[in-house]
Amino acid sequence: MRAVTTAQPLDVQPTPLALLLLGRDTDTRSERGVECPGDLPAASDPGLVERARAAKEKLGDKVFVLGHHYQRDEVIQFADVTGDSFKLARDAADRPQAEYIVFCGVHFMAESADILTGDDQRVVLPDLAAGCSMADMATAEQVAECWDVLTEAGVADATVPVSYMNSSADIKAFTGRHGGTICTSSNAKKALEWAFEQGGEDQADKKVLFLPDQHLGRNTAVRDMGFSLDDCVLYNPHKPNGGLTVEQLRAAKMILWRGHCSVHGRFSVESVREVRERVPGVNVLVHPECKHEVVSAADYVGSTEYIIKTLDAAPAGSKWAIGTELNLVQRVANAHPDKEVVFLDKTVCFCSTMNRIDLPHLVWTLESLAAGTLVNQIKVDPETEKFAKLALERMLALP
Ligand code: 13P
Ligand code: SF4
Repeated sequence: MRAVTTAQPLDVQPTPLALLLLGRDTDTRSERGVECPGDLPAASDPGLVERARAAKEKLGDKVFVLGHHYQRDEVIQFADVTGDSFKLARDAADRPQAEYIVFCGVHFMAESADILTGDDQRVVLPDLAAGCSMADMATAEQVAECWDVLTEAGVADATVPVSYMNSSADIKAFTGRHGGTICTSSNAKKALEWAFEQGGEDQADKKVLFLPDQHLGRNTAVRDMGFSLDDCVLYNPHKPNGGLTVEQLRAAKMILWRGHCSVHGRFSVESVREVRERVPGVNVLVHPECKHEVVSAADYVGSTEYIIKTLDAAPAGSKWAIGTELNLVQRVANAHPDKEVVFLDKTVCFCSTMNRIDLPHLVWTLESLAAGTLVNQIKVDPETEKFAKLALERMLALP
């Protein structure tokens, strides 16, 4: 059995769906037509690496580049820090001296960085079309309507919202306004524990409205908190009253928003079964955005940072099938030639919006900033920021 390497990264064929996920022409809300103003360097320009290096050097301490683990290698090489969503939120807040925070990640991450950084700091997203389809699955209007449904059912007072970092600033502000917290895949259990401690005396009635990733919500509630699947109900924003009766809402402990990640949703129990057959003795390690049945069939579950640390600590010769975004799986495989690392699914699975940040966009961003032109700033309005910050700070204060 071989490890995945750069020279031979995939033993998989892109399916039509994967090609769509990889494509530049998709017309989802998270990638809607935002043009890059000015001249984007050609991807074929052999001087791109040198241009990025020179622009970054010229900017010096004025710029701080953050890179999420799902970013391309060509981009991640210029990151001052890399991390999962939680680590990057903290890192952004910890660099008050940097005038520009260049966020190599997706839109909701850059918004969070803007909320957590000072008024004199500018957060920049190298490609404004780098959104997140999961974050787009909960709009402010839909969530306000959901809260009305909970109010009419008489359960809103007993409900604490917990929103995944992968949500818009509007949803984070809703969460802050209603006494809730943000969580990431690395602290979802702590966030739920905190949420169930809030509010009045009557423990039995307490519930959480978990937005927008049903899978992280369900996996954390059932796997880490001891709730049953029957304690969870699914609120569908496209159905009247979320498709739920008053009785269902009253009986539920977890009201899960019907959102999901299109990348992690591709892993199946069949992929777990198949890899166990193909690679005897393999450890299956997946991200908690995967479906509940996949997480239940896996050996280890955790955030992108957890995945990296688990492989760092694994003994030489051990075998791993990883269920998360492909840029990260390839990088982990390349970092551990003494271990066998394979991708959990046979189909290619990049996150198309994470992949939009490429070297040409990074060069264009850094050169523009070095020339004194602020481009692609992500700015959250003050009212939204106030309440979103409250929710983010509750998360940062979790034990
Ligand atoms: P983490 O890096 O927090 O594990 O999140 C994964 C993800 O999907 C980010 O979009
Ligand atoms: Fe959004 Fe999924 Fe991409 Fe993360 S991997 S940015 S949740 S679409």
